[in-house]
Amino acid sequence: MTSHSQASNPGHVCIIMDGNGRWARKKLMPRNYGHRKGVEVTRRCVEFFATAGVDHLTLFAFSSENWNRPEDEVSNLMTLFMQSLQRYTDELHEQGLRIRFIGQREAFSRKLQQQIEQTEAITDANPGMTLNIAANYGGHWDIVNAARRLAQRVCDGVIGVDEIDEQQFSAGLSLDDAPNPDLFIRTGGERRISNFLLWQLAYTEFYFCDCLWPDFDAREMQLALDAYHQRQRRYGKTGEQIEVSG
Ligand code: FPP
Repeated sequence: MTSHSQASNPGHVCIIMDGNGRWARKKLMPRNYGHRKGVEVTRRCVEFFATAGVDHLTLFAFSSENWNRPEDEVSNLMTLFMQSLQRYTDELHEQGLRIRFIGQREAFSRKLQQQIEQTEAITDANPGMTLNIAANYGGHWDIVNAARRLAQRVCDGVIGVDEIDEQQFSAGLSLDDAPNPDLFIRTGGERRISNFLLWQLAYTEFYFCDCLWPDFDAREMQLALDAYHQRQRRYGKTGEQIEVSG
């Protein structure tokens, strides 16, 4: 580690968990087999980052564009989300984790929405790591939603147009009570953000790896953290300024 790199682990990690389908196909198995394996890896990943002292872990479980997948895959994913919540809520609650969902949950079945509400309610007061699950989430939607909330506050006379600033705006975004992500991870080889947390990623460190999500084991997770520790975060300043201020 150099004198100017990150000494502490990131406070907020967000992940695009990509590659389940390809992992299954490589094994000549249906895509859903990859998603099932993906859930197991997700469980271990939650454990890993909670143990690493991360305060917020935000996972992209289902994008607003994922509805365009074949009907049977979408239906399998919905079943898998339901089963995963039923299976892991109590366990994660006992470990003191808080679970929250971001995205347009109204699009999900009433039963899944109820399970989501129940999981959030059970774990709401927990002191441990917050696990944010982005489900039917899109970064554009998030920003438009924040604009709509702000416009409503102006219409209601709560604030004036001149008072609108970055802080007022971001208060209407998902994850408004969390610090912005320090580290973004995407598995599966693609180098893009895919409409994930667009506003929140302004100063985030990016880490892309070719490993497919079901193969993202503790070693790979540690490699991502190691890469983060090598980064110098400058926030617009020069490297020399950062070194002087420590
Ligand atoms: C990416 O692989 C995964 C998804 C689109 C969503 C499903 C995620 C899981 C099942 C793991 C997390 C589960 C929970 C409950 C939070 P892909 O299908 O895009 O893979 P491909 O790029 O190889 O086709």
